[in-house]
Amino acid sequence: MVVDRETALKALDGVRDPKSGLGLREAGLVQGLVVAGGKAGFMLEVVPGDAALYAPVRDAAEKALAALDGVETAQVVMTAAARPKLQTQAHSHAPAPSHQTSARVAVDPRAQLHPQAEAERPANVRRVIAVASGKGGVGKSTVAVNLAVALQRLGLSVGLLDADVYGPSVPRMLGLTGKPSFAGGKLQPLIGHGVKAMSIGLMIEGDQAAIWRGPMASSAVRQLAQDVAWGAESAPLDVLVLDLPPGTGDIQLTIVQKIKLDGIVVVSTPQEMALIDARRAVAMFKRTHAPILGLIENMAYFTNPATGEAIEIFGRGGGKAEAAAQGLPLLAEIPIDIAMREGADNGQPAGADSVAGLALAQAAAAVRTLLGL
Ligand SMILES: Nc1ncnc2c1ncn2[C@@H]1O[C@H](COP(=O)(O)OP(=O)(O)OP(=O)(O)O)[C@@H](O)[C@H]1O
Ligand SMILES: [Mg+2]
Repeated sequence: MVVDRETALKALDGVRDPKSGLGLREAGLVQGLVVAGGKAGFMLEVVPGDAALYAPVRDAAEKALAALDGVETAQVVMTAAARPKLQTQAHSHAPAPSHQTSARVAVDPRAQLHPQAEAERPANVRRVIAVASGKGGVGKSTVAVNLAVALQRLGLSVGLLDADVYGPSVPRMLGLTGKPSFAGGKLQPLIGHGVKAMSIGLMIEGDQAAIWRGPMASSAVRQLAQDVAWGAESAPLDVLVLDLPPGTGDIQLTIVQKIKLDGIVVVSTPQEMALIDARRAVAMFKRTHAPILGLIENMAYFTNPATGEAIEIFGRGGGKAEAAAQGLPLLAEIPIDIAMREGADNGQPAGADSVAGLALAQAAAAVRTLLGL
């Protein structure tokens, strides 16, 4: 049985806001609801002093979601807004400026998803996610870049680390030129479309890295992650996105073991789903104990420009079925989008209102909730 949003919201109506006495939906306390692949969750945003008052509400909401047929895991993450809610609502017509959103702190210890034992977290970074795939060329870098931009559009401060030392594509996709500078003992990231980016492609000439052996490549990535000024102590970066190299070999494994990850997003094409490479990637990352946030199906369909009809080249519903079989949320279905490909070659991410941009915005909202941001 598959649960829909309305059923989840109805269940949450049965949980009362202790302040207003209203159901959670009516009280405006259900934010970023995600219901997919046997998982349900949302963000419960409260004013800082109210965390204790709302802890039982969070638990009750989690219970209510978990009790639904078809929900295997429920996660409600409580966050405290930096400013009191009423004041925020008085300005509710204007989008919240990013500094305000980034000042929001997770007060819920469970928002720290399963930590890895030996891995290190880059300094002044709140969450790290990796974008991975089994096969090459499925659109990992395209998704990583556009997901980073979409997270930034949600008001988060975002970094993007190109961990593909053999085939770096982030500089081209974000339109970055020039060399990063050093200041205060740290490498300064370049900024493209509001995202702080770093890539080995910005540091070395041509394809010098091609002669590096695996351990050199993975230690270069680890070092880049640690040596960049992603954020300051007073203003940490909300989320760092890693664009992993293709495949499930030693380099990928070393990276995910050395950098503390809060989540992995697996990208796949419908064809790859059938070829089970995505399954292999999921199996490998499950072994690292880094939580898999969900699947993104890329090149899911093509819209006939003449008729507007969606043509499902590899058949319909492969992504959904695979996500369900894996017990993972399907975070987005991204169509084949010629403008996005041209944009990727010219440093222009997908527009916020393009079909691909909207699909990625949906994925970004889900990722934000799953990370408790
Ligand atoms: N949804 C899409 N619509 C159209 N073109 C796409 C789409 N996704 C990716 N592409 C194009 O497909 C090519 C491969 O994409 P990308 O470089 O993102 O894949 P990748 O998985 O990172 O590859 P690699 O394994 O080499 O790192 C690029 O030219 C990109 O612009
Ligand atoms: Mg790539």
